[in-house]
Amino acid sequence: MRGIRISGWGIAVPDKVVTNDDMALNLDTSDAWIVERTGIRERHIGGTTSGLAIEAGQAALDCAGRTAAEIDHLVLATTTPDGIVPGTAPSVQHALGIKGGAFDINAACSGFVYGLVTAAGLIAAGSGPIMLIGSETLSNITDMNDRAIAIIVGDGAGAVIIEPVDGAGGLLSWNLNSDGSLRHLLKCEHGGTLFMDGKEVFRKAVRVVVESAERAMADAGLGPDDISLLVPHQANLRIIQAACQRLGIPEERTAVVIDRYGNTSSASIPLALHDAIVGGRVHDGDHLLLTGFGGGMTWASAVLRWGG
Ligand code: COA
Repeated sequence: MRGIRISGWGIAVPDKVVTNDDMALNLDTSDAWIVERTGIRERHIGGTTSGLAIEAGQAALDCAGRTAAEIDHLVLATTTPDGIVPGTAPSVQHALGIKGGAFDINAACSGFVYGLVTAAGLIAAGSGPIMLIGSETLSNITDMNDRAIAIIVGDGAGAVIIEPVDGAGGLLSWNLNSDGSLRHLLKCEHGGTLFMDGKEVFRKAVRVVVESAERAMADAGLGPDDISLLVPHQANLRIIQAACQRLGIPEERTAVVIDRYGNTSSASIPLALHDAIVGGRVHDGDHLLLTGFGGGMTWASAVLRWGG
């Protein structure tokens, strides 16, 4: 039996910081409205999905003390690929010098958890170390003149190195879910811009996140008191708070970076995870509950035991 552990992490965000006050220069909105309704204070805008992924991936390699040649495969979660064909992962693979397979996963904001489970499956099937990246340039598919959506999006990337270990490893439980009948709630057609039914996404998100996170805890044989850190998708602070309350996990045990990065889709969970790790909030033996939701709709949760 082969399991996984995470041995390295890195992030990348564009240099350009756009504050809520900056947004209010062009849009009929205000810092007070955005902070109250979303928890967002600023976001980074710019770059390319591959460029951010390369930077985050290299940082994760350096952190793990690995060279690219030691990585077997690259899994890139993104909703905003550089192009339609080819996928963005091969560009990142080539730039970093990784040798094996490289492919994109598009599960919208659940992409990082989908990628984690995919990487664990590849490792169970015999793969060596895998690089998993979530990278997004949502600003490229957003009408920045539409205040209903422009204020929530941000660009960035987060990467981890996932290593095989003998035995069960750290992925204690997981579930992946989707419901395509809800695709109209959050979508972007070819050449178009993001459309979101914010209110309905909000309602559904709280329900599915709670249901899937509770299932992941139950499957791991754990309760809310056993979770050291909740690492949720960063879409709206009020969604995170509502989920915490219903799950019985206090907000102090939750990784929140939405104030600095906005909603970065599949990059949001690794950005939050990275912030918690470098902030000294993650220790060997800790149980981390990762949970995401997004367009599709898709939603997914996983429980990781850290270290080992
Ligand atoms: N600035 C100021 N006012 C705004 C605004 C903005 N950026 N956007 C909308 N408004 C106005 C609306 O026009 C509306 O005005 P009205 O009452 O005069 O009609 C009022 O604020 C309330 O709008 P509403 O859409 O009901 O706000 P909301 O509380 O639902 O917040 C979102 C909007 C988008 C922040 C919220 O619905 C949300 O976060 N939804 C979930 C989105 C999400 O998670 N997406 C990612 C999924 S991965």
